[in-house]
Amino acid sequence: MKPCTVAIAGKGGTGKTTIAALLVDTLVAAGVRPVLAVDADPNANLHEALGVAVGETLGTMREEAFTRGIPPGMDRRAYIGYRFRKVLVEAGGFDLLAMGRPEGTGCYCFANDLLRECVDALVQDYSCVVIDAEAGMEHVSRGTVGAPDVLLVVSDPSARGLRTALRIRDLAVSLGLDEGRIFLVVNRSKGEAVADNPLPLAAVIPYDPAIEEADVAGRPVISVPPGSPARVAVEGLRRWVISYTAVRPPSR
Ligand SMILES: Nc1ncnc2c1ncn2[C@@H]1O[C@H](COP(=O)(O)OP(=O)(O)OP(=O)(O)O)[C@@H](O)[C@H]1O
Ligand SMILES: [Mg+2]
Repeated sequence: MKPCTVAIAGKGGTGKTTIAALLVDTLVAAGVRPVLAVDADPNANLHEALGVAVGETLGTMREEAFTRGIPPGMDRRAYIGYRFRKVLVEAGGFDLLAMGRPEGTGCYCFANDLLRECVDALVQDYSCVVIDAEAGMEHVSRGTVGAPDVLLVVSDPSARGLRTALRIRDLAVSLGLDEGRIFLVVNRSKGEAVADNPLPLAAVIPYDPAIEEADVAGRPVISVPPGSPARVAVEGLRRWVISYTAVRPPSR
């Protein structure tokens, strides 16, 4: 059964990782599990937001697994499959896959094709896949992660932020994403009206001091307490995602 796939993009510092982590947490809490959290930002920090440790990324694994020798009796394909599963971090109700850097300077076509096969096979095991993508959406454009069912573009409420969100929408469309699947999430709202809303709105997440407190204290963002304003808003976003993508009952 095909899982629902939600990618979260937006300009730097708009709150992609925060929203991705809270969305994973609220999906799991709502019984939509298992969830696969994909950190597609080369400066990966989704694991910190989710409070889990990562060993290696797909990027570092690729560098090593394709340049070093493979154990005797194993072919490279089997070895990559084995190493791939080891990159996956298992946590309560969700697993995390850190993509790392899309590629180095060498030719990685064969490597990327193989990894794409691994990712395609892997996502089938999940009810929902949440991708923390960076602004350039390189992993989306390279096809390392499949086309998402929904792309959420995160922006602050400012007119300038919203113009950037529109550019990201245009980039996503130029990468082949269906415009009808691209939605805006306004983050850090202090109740301002969103002028000339350029994109259909999926959610407005308020500014929440509990998020900043968790950040300052070095606690994972998912530690923000039940009832805190951003968490409540992300619960609304989760309901929206579930009804939009009509998530089916979990398959395992
Ligand atoms: N709703 C919110 N209320 C208060 N603070 C927030 C909120 N959302 C995000 N922040 C804070 O804003 C900062 C940036 O958030 P985050 O790291 O999630 O953004 P990002 O888009 O993933 O950034 P990057 O582009 O660097 O990956 C963090 O310090 C985070 O704690
Ligand atoms: Mg981030």
